[in-house]
Amino acid sequence: MPQNSDEFYRISKLPPYVFAVINEMRARARAAQIDVIDLGMGNPDGATPRVVVNKLIEASRNARNHRYSQSRGIPHLREEIVKRYKRNYDVDLDPDKEAIVTIGAKDALAHLLFAIVGPDDAVVSPNPAYPIHQYGVLMAEGHACMLPMPDAATFLNRLEDLYRTSNRKPKVLLISFPHNPTTTCVDLDFFKEIIRLAQQHGTLVIHDFAYADLGFDGYKPPSILQVEGAKEVAVEIFSLSKSYNMAGWRVGFCLGNPKMIGALARIKSYLDYGVFQPIQIASIIALRECEEDTRKICTTYQKRRDVLITGLKRAGWPVEPPRGSMFVWAPLPEKHRALGSLDFAKLLLEKARVAVSPGIGFGPMGEGHVRFALIENDQRLRQATRSIGTFLKE
Ligand SMILES: Cc1ncc(COP(=O)(O)O)c(C=O)c1O
Repeated sequence: MPQNSDEFYRISKLPPYVFAVINEMRARARAAQIDVIDLGMGNPDGATPRVVVNKLIEASRNARNHRYSQSRGIPHLREEIVKRYKRNYDVDLDPDKEAIVTIGAKDALAHLLFAIVGPDDAVVSPNPAYPIHQYGVLMAEGHACMLPMPDAATFLNRLEDLYRTSNRKPKVLLISFPHNPTTTCVDLDFFKEIIRLAQQHGTLVIHDFAYADLGFDGYKPPSILQVEGAKEVAVEIFSLSKSYNMAGWRVGFCLGNPKMIGALARIKSYLDYGVFQPIQIASIIALRECEEDTRKICTTYQKRRDVLITGLKRAGWPVEPPRGSMFVWAPLPEKHRALGSLDFAKLLLEKARVAVSPGIGFGPMGEGHVRFALIENDQRLRQATRSIGTFLKE
């Protein structure tokens, strides 16, 4: 019998969460009444649109909605996401075969990988990355093949090299743009290349589109499903968490390739009974009526980006402004580079009282960077950069 949880077969593949170290330090500081500005986790601080909350209250009062719902999501919600894709991207989807509701993007990712990846199947993704992109593959017993992504063009070149030289052809390509944590953004031509390579080599593509609506300065992140023929090989995962400040509600979608959607539906039919129905009904209102709220959410992040970047520059820490996402990805300041990202993040918390995510938590290629999440208001961000400035001058 395993003596501790690390000895369980699957748990042994999951290292302790690097971010837990910073979370614990932050919790200790706060318990000691120390004010910490928390730019660590990508957890939206804004409120869900009022009409959505009101609909949830109304739908919750109806006993008909208290029963098990449908694992693949109620038809009206699937129809509404399909309409949004038509409206926003001119993409046609069949709500029955090409759309499924998920318990957030995380459920979609983890269970889709579980459904389609088998022992030693290679799944290629950029590194650093959102942890489930790597660990979802390991949990499914696949082989996580990480390619560096200093920029999108380099990633594409490395991918072409891999197809040319490796005798283990990737079964799945798992990508996500705007990208967490690096904030890399791409245009439709990049996706055209991805789809072309996938079709040529018989690879499946998963595009995690969690930051679909967070593009700045007029940049509109493209959907991979806009590429002609994409549905033959690709699915896209969309989430309400960031677009509508609904992270705690747990609603997302997987859209596109009917074979992958069917596999996910089968797995989910064994694992869950779907999202609480009042939440699904309220989500219809979000998708149908809240485009303006989404625009405001995006504008708020853009403004915070400007405040943070300007403040960091003043603090002697110049960083490239991102074109999208809700993050700033910053190389460690020269004089602290040798510390590594985890020790630097600890020092920043201790000295400047600012919590950030160490790059190493996103995989080996995240070392040398920290990630700021834009989840505190302008005034708090100014306060954060002032104290970072004082710390860096020490
Ligand atoms: C790239 C990426 N995918 C998915 C998620 C999780 O989204 P959801 O709340 O829909 O599970 C996140 C959350 O931070 C993310 O950064």
